[in-house]
Amino acid sequence: MKSAAANIQAVQHIRRMRGGTQPHLMRASDGNYYIVKFQNNPQYLRVLANEFLATRLAALLSLPVPEVEIIEVSDSLIESSPGLQFEIGGISVRCAAGLHVGVRHVADPWNDCVFDYLPESTFDKVMNRQAFAGILAFDKWTGNTDGRQAVFTKHGRGYHVTFIDQGYCFNAAEWNFPDLPLHGAYYKGHVYEDIAGWDSFEPVLSRIEAMEYADLWRCAAPIPLDWFEHDGEGLFQLIEALHERRSSVRTFITAFRDSSRNPFPRWTAVHGAVPQGRRSIKEEEAAPELALGGVGEIGKS
Ligand SMILES: Nc1ncnc2c1ncn2[C@@H]1O[C@H](COP(=O)(O)OP(=O)(O)OP(=O)(O)O)[C@@H](O)[C@H]1O
Ligand SMILES: [Mg+2]
Repeated sequence: MKSAAANIQAVQHIRRMRGGTQPHLMRASDGNYYIVKFQNNPQYLRVLANEFLATRLAALLSLPVPEVEIIEVSDSLIESSPGLQFEIGGISVRCAAGLHVGVRHVADPWNDCVFDYLPESTFDKVMNRQAFAGILAFDKWTGNTDGRQAVFTKHGRGYHVTFIDQGYCFNAAEWNFPDLPLHGAYYKGHVYEDIAGWDSFEPVLSRIEAMEYADLWRCAAPIPLDWFEHDGEGLFQLIEALHERRSSVRTFITAFRDSSRNPFPRWTAVHGAVPQGRRSIKEEEAAPELALGGVGEIGKS
């Protein structure tokens, strides 16, 4: 594995953002603005690797995610920017120089509003709201152990959703997959109300299932080794696991669907077109224990 190089350099510190990693908004040499998460952030180091890899995988699936880059912050910029620091337990710690992850700001940070939350009554104005189903398939695949996070920007009379913060994909620094049914779900249920069957997850679900091993490595290859403690074996295992898990995404979605949260009220037997007492072929392949009638509510497919 060759060592990584930055695609861009940070040229100006703008301000600190909210969030557990205490990211900073910075202007970069390409003229764009980036939310920069630093290697010595107060959360954990691998958030950088996770953000980079998961965002690139999501982009490959055509999900609405920001651009992600390796961004270099120089010693001189750190020295001349007193705001480039973290607050940890009441103590100020300077951000380190070096290679960090930059997530492109989804709008013009000087003139546009970015909303972390939208009221439910406004949700039908979100033009690309069907992407919530696709990102759920993605979060199940990548084992996101956090709730799904999104930001909304105004577009004409409507809004556009972009999915941010992939730091807890692959279970944060653990790089394993607990796969609890409610993991990766958005905190509000209305975003899933229109999901009526497997078709709602397309084309993302099929693209995940067809993702090539080489594509996974193409997304992972540029990650700086420092972002995962040079644990090449760990990265190899992670890519192997992701490749293996492609065929289990339907099982994970089924577990969420059948959870006490009952997230998909419109997903009925009629929509699934499943003969009574039988699940679809795809479902039987995805969850053979359900097809055998062991667990679950058979009529609900
Ligand atoms: N690409 C982006 N464009 C515009 N704003 C962003 C972008 N990414 C993040 N933000 C803003 O910065 C905030 C913090 O980002 P993010 O959630 O990724 O950081 P975090 O440290 O991982 O947060 P936490 O772990 O507390 O959820 C977001 O709530 C959002 O308001
Ligand atoms: Mg966050």
